[in-house]
Amino acid sequence: MKEKAYRYKISAAGRVNLIGEHVDYCGGKVLPCALSLTNTVWARPNGENVIRLRWTDLPDEVTLDLDRLDEYRDLKHAKYHAGCAALWRAAGHRTVGCDLLMDCTVPFGSGLSSSAAIEVSTIAALATVAEEPFDPVEVALIAQKAEHEYAGVHCGIMDQFASANGKAGHAILLDCSTLEKEYIPVDLRGCTLVIADCKKPHSLVESKYNERRKEVETALCLLQRRIKAESLSEVRPYQLEEYRTLLPPVLYRRAKHVVEECDRVHRAAQYLREGDIPAFGELLNASHASLGNLYEVTGKELDSLAHAAQSHPACLGSRMTGAGFGGCTVSVVRKKDVKDFKRFVATQYARETGYQAVFYDSEIADGIVVEELEDHAQPQSAQI
Ligand code: GLA
Repeated sequence: MKEKAYRYKISAAGRVNLIGEHVDYCGGKVLPCALSLTNTVWARPNGENVIRLRWTDLPDEVTLDLDRLDEYRDLKHAKYHAGCAALWRAAGHRTVGCDLLMDCTVPFGSGLSSSAAIEVSTIAALATVAEEPFDPVEVALIAQKAEHEYAGVHCGIMDQFASANGKAGHAILLDCSTLEKEYIPVDLRGCTLVIADCKKPHSLVESKYNERRKEVETALCLLQRRIKAESLSEVRPYQLEEYRTLLPPVLYRRAKHVVEECDRVHRAAQYLREGDIPAFGELLNASHASLGNLYEVTGKELDSLAHAAQSHPACLGSRMTGAGFGGCTVSVVRKKDVKDFKRFVATQYARETGYQAVFYDSEIADGIVVEELEDHAQPQSAQI
């Protein structure tokens, strides 16, 4: 049977965070960029009461009944889509039956937010086929809720927000307590970003992530006995020192990372605006050190990758990006020396860990992009 043509192509971005790690759920500011690595959804209304899902790289076909969306929590891939659709509907939005074909170029398990890209693009696709305008901020909030309720990760808002609201060529300085944002042009003055994946198989990321979240919540409660603060991001470094005896040593280290990282984001944003890239790079190095020594989310592989990068003369700064425990680093590297930098880092890293690092080529891109398709602009037959 010849299928009807897809009517829309909707994509949402993966992201790289430049600085402000593990502070979004503490009300701090973060500085992510949306990437040209995306999840694309080819979509068409199907006139039925179901969402039919397919993937370009999987043989599976999954049918979700629009009236029973809450019953798919145990599905492997489709639980994200079912969760997004259920929550989008519960928020009062019209949904219509549709066929969705998924094509993801964000590498899975790399810490570049493939799940946020999938969630955000799915919701934007559901709104688009229902011919409803949507607010990218609301889309991000519902996608975050889906991650909490259907994937069991109590993430902050950074990934979904960047995936939905990114702007080509810009970083987003996002205040995670108010959701106010400022776009800052990423002009690295002769340098470029290099993203490297340490390729260590992920394990226990979700449970360790949720554990860190609990630790900083407990730290805040203890500090609130003496300090008036709604969130840890409001605590100043000198206040933390003054009241450090309120905290057990581990919680003190976690809180110290958060309050100092918030301070670094503020300075990094200013250096980026001013074009002081060497100073910006120094802060990336300091952020990585803090994520290793105080927050303890880097591990041997990310440390080895970041330290190899930092030791190359063309590198102005390097750090892990995302949740940690594996995934990627982001480095600021002089453009003319990128090839040599990659060769050096890959060799050094393989020697120390036995893993082959992988480098991803990506631009800083827009968040959600919606295209209405002409009949000829269809996915390649190989993909359908
Ligand atoms: C993951 C989460 C984000 C954020 C980062 C760490 O990517 O999804 O909300 O907490 O980790 O900065």
